[in-house]
Amino acid sequence: MTGRFAFRFMKGSLTQKLKQMASPVANPRHYCSSSSSSSAKPKLSQSSRKERLLAGAAIGVVGGAYASTLDKETFSGWLFTATKALNPMFALLDPEVAHRLAISAAARGWVPREQRPDQQILGLEVWGRRFSNPIGLAAGFDKNAEAVEGLLGLGFGFVEVGSVTPIPQEGNPKPRMFRLRNEGALINRCGFNGEGIVAVAERLDTQNGKRKPEKTSTSSNDEVKHGQGILGVNIGKNKTSEDAAADYVQGVHALSQYADYLVINVSSPNTPGLRKLQGRNQLKDLVQKVKAARDEMEWGKVGPPPLLVKIAPDLSKQDLEDIAVVALDLHLDGLIISNTTISRPEAVESNPVSEEGGGLSGKPLFNLSNDILKDMYILTKGKIPLVGCGGVSSGEDAYKKIRAGATLVQLYTAFAYGGPALIPQIKAELAGCLERDGFKSMYDAIGADCR
Ligand SMILES: Cc1cc2nc3c(=O)[nH]c(=O)nc-3n(C[C@H](O)[C@H](O)[C@H](O)COP(=O)(O)O)c2cc1C
Repeated sequence: MTGRFAFRFMKGSLTQKLKQMASPVANPRHYCSSSSSSSAKPKLSQSSRKERLLAGAAIGVVGGAYASTLDKETFSGWLFTATKALNPMFALLDPEVAHRLAISAAARGWVPREQRPDQQILGLEVWGRRFSNPIGLAAGFDKNAEAVEGLLGLGFGFVEVGSVTPIPQEGNPKPRMFRLRNEGALINRCGFNGEGIVAVAERLDTQNGKRKPEKTSTSSNDEVKHGQGILGVNIGKNKTSEDAAADYVQGVHALSQYADYLVINVSSPNTPGLRKLQGRNQLKDLVQKVKAARDEMEWGKVGPPPLLVKIAPDLSKQDLEDIAVVALDLHLDGLIISNTTISRPEAVESNPVSEEGGGLSGKPLFNLSNDILKDMYILTKGKIPLVGCGGVSSGEDAYKKIRAGATLVQLYTAFAYGGPALIPQIKAELAGCLERDGFKSMYDAIGADCR
């Protein structure tokens, strides 16, 4: 009897402890109370870092067996927290090897699956599609659509695969991905390494065939046409191709039937000449051709996937005005703002790695991409959904993007550093920020800083 009581007592207090750990943010408001979430977090001493690491490892073995007896939501939260113990190991690996490992793990389902429902305040509808939260994984992480279900299962509101080129290509010679750890940044010059549209289409067909929209207009099941989570497909061009538009058209023909939305990527800095496609006439011509290719395909009542263009953060005011005119004139469905920058902001200047060629992503990109996001929101008068991307590493960052005009938010670099545990944390912080400032829904906060 006493034994049983003792066991219950231990179970109760351990459950409480695990619940606290699993909760991404004990008090989300705390994270939102300063203007810079990242700087607000207390710095850990070297010894307390070590203690945490050891505790994480120990919990992985001892607590793991115990936690499997808990309810699935608590267990899911515990697993997310436990993945933090793996971050130091990933940090020791070459960035591209670490990335490969992460994709393989997600493809095999060896990653936590989010069982806790998203907070209602985070939900929104865009392009007639329901997003349970506005936080998405940016293009470039799963270039070949190998791990869509695993990545969506982490709790992202949407995942964007690609960029996919018509023909498979190796990309630039390695090394081509570099960490600027202290700055929370990466430099990459991958150059659209990928398996090409045929391999990706086959994979999406077998892995995610259920995403295929109904093609018959008699379908009465339009509501349930897609699987769980939203899939974006980002299209690029081959390095040696002379007819860029023909490449994008091929991408659309091969992949749009699997996409909840399509992205024309004209902003990677690592494909020679690509960014020139952002010029007013070039962009107009390209969007017209891609739209025509998409619209001549057979679509059911559901209609074709929305078409977005992803732009660079290194554009002049005139460039932005031109893009806004094209976007409004041609009724583009959205803009993703932004890709990586070829500039080297002051924050990275003292790091010798900043001399590597390629696009810079992560924290030092935040202000630059946010400024053009705001400009574009004003130029397009809030008429076009914008996806804010660049340097998001906290819920406060995501919130700032939304206030600057983003309807949806994406991240890559912070996820590469922070791993799965970052996703529930960002969502909880974002919900806390919205509530703190009295917003009843996501819609109310979009563009709040531009009004
Ligand atoms: C290693 C790496 C590869 C990328 N590959 C692509 C790509 O293929 N297509 C694309 O549109 N963006 C690509 N990006 C850009 C990201 O999608 C994102 O726009 C950029 O990294 C800024 O977001 P972040 O600061 O959260 O990383 C890549 C970024 C990184 C770091």
